[in-house]
Amino acid sequence: MPPPLGPPTAPPLGPPAPPAPPGPCHVAIIMDGNGRWAAARGLSRSEGHKAGAAPVRAILKEARAAQVQYLTLYAFSTENWRRAENEIQNLFELLIQYLDAETAELLSSGVRLNAVGDLARLPQESRAALDLAMEVTRANGDITLTLALSYGSRAEIVAATRALALRARQGLCDPQELTEELFARELWTGALPDVDLLIRTGGEKRISNFLLWKLAYAELYFTDRLWPDFGTEDFRQALSDFQGRRRRFGRAV
Ligand code: IPE
Ligand code: IPE
Ligand code: MG
Repeated sequence: MPPPLGPPTAPPLGPPAPPAPPGPCHVAIIMDGNGRWAAARGLSRSEGHKAGAAPVRAILKEARAAQVQYLTLYAFSTENWRRAENEIQNLFELLIQYLDAETAELLSSGVRLNAVGDLARLPQESRAALDLAMEVTRANGDITLTLALSYGSRAEIVAATRALALRARQGLCDPQELTEELFARELWTGALPDVDLLIRTGGEKRISNFLLWKLAYAELYFTDRLWPDFGTEDFRQALSDFQGRRRRFGRAV
């Protein structure tokens, strides 16, 4: 016999669930492991770099869905100029291919493209493709995708210091008035907020000269997953790990 009909029973009232902690506003990723991914398959390093484009697409989409406002990807370091000429050439060709294939999509999906690093060192053609993609997406504002290219934090800090010292020598600023905020504005990354979450794929547990200033209070997340294998689920896991961290910024709580 069916139970008698009555008013629907409301679930017991309990204390309201605490609000979920905010997700990261700025996520930075050291996309490492392309070479090892390729070696494990008997492929060339170039094939590994080529396979590294797919996760960029997937993670950008996922980051946007998770309301991340800034996604910064380490694509080529100052120290990567020490690699073989053909690998370097290949990496910059892939950059052009990525921009050719993706700029329309970046534009229609609200992504603003940005780049940081010693961009004057980039091959002319890559630089032109990059400038065009940045120009085209300039009015977008849902998420800022920053590519760190020919980027090294030490070079960035020295460039900022040099610019300030030159201005001081011309009497345009007073060294006594220098603050952390004013200094940070001079950095290549001056327009970006501090990093909340840094992810490094590929198993190494180091920073490799990436965003030293901006990482001061970032939560660090290291995974053995090689970059070409890093997927949406891995990214969600990193975000969920971040949600479980207690950030204190030096306070005693
Ligand atoms: C990261 O992958 C991509 C760049 C540094 C450009 P690697 O090329 O460093 O891959 P591994 O570390 O040799 O596996
Ligand atoms: C860091 O990876 C740079 C990029 C991912 C672009 P590397 O492979 O160059 O770093 P190291 O040499 O292992 O520290
Ligand atoms: Mg590496």
